[in-house]
Amino acid sequence: MKKVVSVVGARPNFMKIAPIDRAFKAYSDEIEHIIVHTGQHYDYQMSEAFFQDLQMPSPNFFLGVGSGSHAEQTAKVMTAFEEVCQKVKPDLVIVPGDVNSTMAAAITTKKLSLPLAHIEAGLRSGDRTMPEEINRIVTDVIADLLFVTEKSGYENLIAEGIPSYKIHFVGNTMIDSLIFASEQLNKSKILQTLQLSECSYVLITLHRPTNVDSAEMLSMFFDIFNYISSRKKIVFPVHPRTRKNITDFGLDEIAGQNKNLILTEPLGYIDFLNLMKNSSLVITDSGGIQEETTFLGVPCITTRTTTERPITVEIGTNTLVHPEKEAILKTIYEKIDNSSNPHQIPKLWDGKASKRIAEIIYNYLR
Ligand code: UD1
Repeated sequence: MKKVVSVVGARPNFMKIAPIDRAFKAYSDEIEHIIVHTGQHYDYQMSEAFFQDLQMPSPNFFLGVGSGSHAEQTAKVMTAFEEVCQKVKPDLVIVPGDVNSTMAAAITTKKLSLPLAHIEAGLRSGDRTMPEEINRIVTDVIADLLFVTEKSGYENLIAEGIPSYKIHFVGNTMIDSLIFASEQLNKSKILQTLQLSECSYVLITLHRPTNVDSAEMLSMFFDIFNYISSRKKIVFPVHPRTRKNITDFGLDEIAGQNKNLILTEPLGYIDFLNLMKNSSLVITDSGGIQEETTFLGVPCITTRTTTERPITVEIGTNTLVHPEKEAILKTIYEKIDNSSNPHQIPKLWDGKASKRIAEIIYNYLR
């Protein structure tokens, strides 16, 4: 029996690995799939709720690393994951995405000379001040199997000198999860709970340090919300980092005065998908939401200067806007009631990426 270990740590990892776990069931006589959760995200709503919604088995190992500086978090994951590897002796390790847990587990794997597979390889924003960009570059340069979601990923890796035999354009495992969960959206009562009707609201997520770690930037967003709320309701599920900063910057009162602004705790996967699918517009600084809105055909404004997911902009659902008030407002007015939104699904985003990955790994291990 071969052992494949997948390492998850933060919220965007869980939906990328859940369908991989299901795909490995086809090889259960020959491959044991083991899930390690680093504990980078630890709040119930940021972690456990997702395991339930994604019908993912509980992790076999929980490392409990928690928060800390980038160096601390990375070092804790590396040390704790090394112990797991020594105990389990994996034949291959899978890391998804670009969070600190991804890079930390990747380095540990290769320091032990074990084969490493990276899911969502090759994405590049070109901005090396983003911690995720460093995590992507380091992981890709040492990985043995690089699974790519869009053509830019393939092109970037070739341009960086990665041999083409290591690169596999397989599609997007996050979209596998979205398609799987779409059948369960009727379980979500979030529209009723928040008293919303279809297309009557704008959905917001903000958590990137450049947008939420300064009082000036975060206040600008609340100012923008005041403009939007004269036209539509706003739903804003608040990430823990952003929650803390809203309070620290004294913005709770301003938020409370806007009767059309609904702030919620971070939401579970199915509720969030349901909200996204029925919103008239999404405004975000997330990576994954750019892809999910593209698949769903919902207009998305990404308040960042760069994106590592250019296919979403090429197709036209996603618009990249410099995080500056006038520019964001101008784009909101263009998009908010625009019913002729482009809708095209990127190549291989067909719900079968995980099956392709499991098959490639199975053949690799043989
Ligand atoms: C991380 C990822 C980011 C991803 C995001 C999704 C890195 C470098 N960044 O950012 O790419 O888009 O996850 O959410 O890995 N906190 C809690 N409870 C939790 C988790 C975090 O309260 O369950 C708070 C802590 O105060 C922590 C802060 O949020 O210090 C930031 O958490 P961290 O995991 O360091 O980074 P994220 O901003 O979540």
